[in-house]
Amino acid sequence: MNRITQLFNIKYPIVQGGMIWNSGYKLASAVSNAGGLGLIGAGSMYPDVLREHIQKCKKATDKPFGVNVPMLYPNIEEIIQIIIEEGVKVVFTSAGNPKTWTSHLKDNGITVVHVVSSSKFALKAQEAGVDAVVAEGFEAGGHNGREETTTFTLIPMVKENISVPLIAAGGIATGKGMLAAMILGADGVQMGSRFAASFESSAHENFKKTIVDVKEGDTQLTLKELAPVRLIKNKFFNDVQELYSKCPTNEDLQNLLGKRRAKRGMFEGDLLEGELEIGQIAGLIHEIKTVKDIVDVVISEFEYTVKNIPNMQF
Ligand SMILES: Cc1cc2nc3c(=O)[nH]c(=O)nc-3n(C[C@H](O)[C@H](O)[C@H](O)COP(=O)(O)O)c2cc1C
Repeated sequence: MNRITQLFNIKYPIVQGGMIWNSGYKLASAVSNAGGLGLIGAGSMYPDVLREHIQKCKKATDKPFGVNVPMLYPNIEEIIQIIIEEGVKVVFTSAGNPKTWTSHLKDNGITVVHVVSSSKFALKAQEAGVDAVVAEGFEAGGHNGREETTTFTLIPMVKENISVPLIAAGGIATGKGMLAAMILGADGVQMGSRFAASFESSAHENFKKTIVDVKEGDTQLTLKELAPVRLIKNKFFNDVQELYSKCPTNEDLQNLLGKRRAKRGMFEGDLLEGELEIGQIAGLIHEIKTVKDIVDVVISEFEYTVKNIPNMQF
C-alpha cells in the first residue's frame, strides 16, 4: 500500500492517462481490471457519448476508474454534471485552472486530481484542494507545458513544493522508468503513450502501428502559440514547420490546424494530414500489447529491479 494505491483503492500505483481518441471505456476498464486506475478521456467525447462510456465502464469492471476532463474543450459544465449523475468517483482535470471545478467535484464526493507541468501550478492545485497532483514532463505525449521542464527535473522540484500525493507522468513506459520516478519522489506514475499502443486503445490501427515504428527524435513539441502539443513529424507537422518559416500569425496557425485534426490522425488513421500525438518514449515501445501484459511487465520489471539494483559502488 502507498499513498496512491490507498487514495484510489487500487493494487498498483499506475494510472492510465486520459487520452483523446484513445481512452474509451475498453481501455479504462482493462487498466482498472489489471490493477491500475483507468481513465476515460472525456476530451474527445460529446456529453452523451461520455455518459455511454461511463455506463459501459461500470459494466466492464467492478474496480475503481475515473474520467479525465481537459478543461480547454467545450461543454465542460454538462460533462461535469454527467460525471456527478453517473456516480463517477475519480476525476482528473487538466489544461485549465484547478480552482474552477475542484471544490464542486469534492462537494459531490469525488476524488480530484489535477495535471500540471510546473511547481507553480502544482502548488496552485494543492491550494485549490486537490487530492493529488500529476506532474507531467516535457517528454509526454499530448498537450504540454510551455516551460519544457523534463520529468527528471520536474518531479523532485514539485515534490519539494507540495505535500499531497504526487503522480509522475511523461516518458514512463517501463518498470525501471516507474522506479526512477518513484525514487525522485513520486508516489505513482501516469502512463499515456504505452497504453495508446495497446489492443484495448480505441485509436486507429494505423496510429498504433506508427507508435511502434517511432524512433528516438521522431516527435516534437509544436504549436506553442495555440496549445503546445507533441506530435509525430508527419506531413501535417512539416506543413506547420513550413508555415513557421513565414512568421505566421496565430490566426494563420489556427487556420492550418483547422478542426478535427486529432480525430483524423489518431481515430481515423490519416497518417499524413492528421495530428498524431505521442510521447518521446514511443521510441521504446516496440509492440502493441494487451493492457494486462503491459501492466504485468511493468510491475515485474519494477519488482525485479528493486530487488536487484545493479552494483552502484564506485
Ligand atoms: C494520444 C494522447 C492523447 C492525450 N490526451 C490527453 C487528454 O485528453 N487529457 C490529458 O489530460 N492528457 C492527455 N494526454 C497526456 C496523457 O494523459 C499522459 O499524461 C501522457 O501521455 C504521459 O506521458 P507519456 O506519453 O510519455 O506516457 C494525452 C497523451 C497522448 C499520448
